[in-house]
Amino acid sequence: MIKILFYVIISVSSVFGYFTLPGKCPENVKLQEDFRLAEFYGKWYQAYHYSSDGRNNNNCSTINLITKPTGVYFNQSRVDRGLFHRYSIGKFEIPINIEEAAKLDVTFVWDNAPRRLKTRRYNFHVLATNNNYYATAYTCQYSPLIDKHFIYVWILSRNIILNDVSKELAIKPLQQIGVTAANLVKDDLSKCTPKYYEDISVEPTTFRYPVPI
Ligand SMILES: *[C@@H]1O[C@H](CO)[C@@H](O)[C@H](O)[C@H]1NC(C)=O
Ligand SMILES: *[C@@H]1O[C@H](CO)[C@@H](O)[C@H](O)[C@H]1NC(C)=O
Repeated sequence: MIKILFYVIISVSSVFGYFTLPGKCPENVKLQEDFRLAEFYGKWYQAYHYSSDGRNNNNCSTINLITKPTGVYFNQSRVDRGLFHRYSIGKFEIPINIEEAAKLDVTFVWDNAPRRLKTRRYNFHVLATNNNYYATAYTCQYSPLIDKHFIYVWILSRNIILNDVSKELAIKPLQQIGVTAANLVKDDLSKCTPKYYEDISVEPTTFRYPVPI
């Protein structure tokens, strides 16, 4: 009980800092048509990102899509303060409706968390991609408690350097969710070898509470 209370207090007190954009998540957003997860597989570098809460805790990040007998998984790794590797593994929920193929959800499971917070499902929507060079994805979480939302945008690149044409194409659909090129933070992928060798699975820093707060 005390532990649950602790989580709730932490959640409620920190929620104000995370959710900064007024109102609900953007609606009627047009996602990538004819999206095929099979072509989206493999490794992507985070070339640019935008976190609406202003926190930049996902440096030197890569997203790797892997298949296992139990499904398709999302492995997002990052370098923490230049010191350690951190990664988070979630399972993709594949949309049944083919027209909504780009409307992905990722589920993370934490066995040690209180029951309400054990399984967390977040959206990971692909706005645009050509599978070979660039991809633009975003997640949005809404807090009914304070009527605000949180957005995280990934501009992903197959190569360490995203070419200018791909960058243009990747940025274009962001206007639908009210994000501009000026909001994007460029990721420096040149110094991504952490000082210490330590690779631990942790909570992702790119999604905020999926439980209604
Ligand atoms: C996830 O990615 C990290 C960093 O690339 C790697 O060290 C880790 O082994 C991966 N985990 C799985 C289950 O693939
Ligand atoms: C990420 O990079 C930014 C800018 O270089 C830096 O200020 C921040 O401390 C880094 N954060 C982490 C968690 O490594």
